Amino acid sequence: MNKKVKNLVFSGVQPSGNLHLGNYLGAMRNFVELQKKMDCVYSIVDLHAITVFQDPKKLEKSIMETVSSFIACGLDFKKSIIFNQSSVSAHAELAWIFNCVSRLGWLNRMTQFKEKAGSNRENASVGLYVYPNLMAADILLYKATHVPVGDDQKQHLELCRDIANKFNNDFNNSEFFPLPEPLIQKNFSRVMSLRDGKKKMSKSEDSDFSRINLQDSEDDIEKKIKKAKTDSHLITANKKDLENRPEALNLLNIYSSVTKTSLETTLKEMEGKDFSKFKKKLADALIASICPIGKKIKELNKDKHQLLTILRDGTEKAKVIADKNLKEIKQIVGFI
Ligand code: TRP
Repeated sequence: MNKKVKNLVFSGVQPSGNLHLGNYLGAMRNFVELQKKMDCVYSIVDLHAITVFQDPKKLEKSIMETVSSFIACGLDFKKSIIFNQSSVSAHAELAWIFNCVSRLGWLNRMTQFKEKAGSNRENASVGLYVYPNLMAADILLYKATHVPVGDDQKQHLELCRDIANKFNNDFNNSEFFPLPEPLIQKNFSRVMSLRDGKKKMSKSEDSDFSRINLQDSEDDIEKKIKKAKTDSHLITANKKDLENRPEALNLLNIYSSVTKTSLETTLKEMEGKDFSKFKKKLADALIASICPIGKKIKELNKDKHQLLTILRDGTEKAKVIADKNLKEIKQIVGFI
């Protein structure tokens, strides 16, 4: 790879009015750490959102609330570039070019499409199918070198590398796009549903008791943790004892993650305690780290003008890089 390539982080988050603990521990907190070390571009990917129908009023609100969540979690809009994807038209333009680079056979292997389209595949939007090409465009438009992603997006990032590689080869420009690397959080275990330790914590699960939302009150958090599924075994220092106990493991992982300790340390600390005592500690830890963020989000949501200004500034900064790169890409492809 070209040695002169500058490190740059890109990541995208789908607009959601209600970010939860999984989003925070799995993505946002990591984004905040990364911005201390590298230049970062974080996009609210509204073009991706409409691959399934979105109510326009709700979409607008979700975009705004995602900006406030970004800021409340600690993203620094002066340092990092924060913007909404649809405001930089180069994303859609490059996605089209990539639609012509990417292969049907590659997209046919994407497991997320299969899951999301489900049995009613004929009725899925074409956008949902080419979603990974747009994601590749997001990343490569900035020639990003590092992409923080969760497990579920690894395959899409592989496809992005395939596209970059094919583009570089097809157009005899072997060093044009860097091949972006995934950034996987060390020692991170995915945050699972509080009702079912085998399912990812998700906004789409019916019961609100399955997740901790960033805007939950202290009371909500206490109640949800109290009701969270566990078992009646005592906690031991032996990790092996957590095998086949996904709910117990999930709560202990959440505690470790929130308090930034290892699971081993948590187990030692909690050894001999039952889950009712542990849950009290967990609730306290969650309240201490989540509630201040929730309050900040609510405060920021009141000032729509400020949020729009943040997005507008981010868009301007993003466009400087995106438009320059797109111009080069168009020349390479042969557009006049
Ligand atoms: N597909 C990602 C998700 O659902 C969101 C996303 C869009 C993204 N573009 C991206 C992530 C670029 C990383 C890089 O989580």
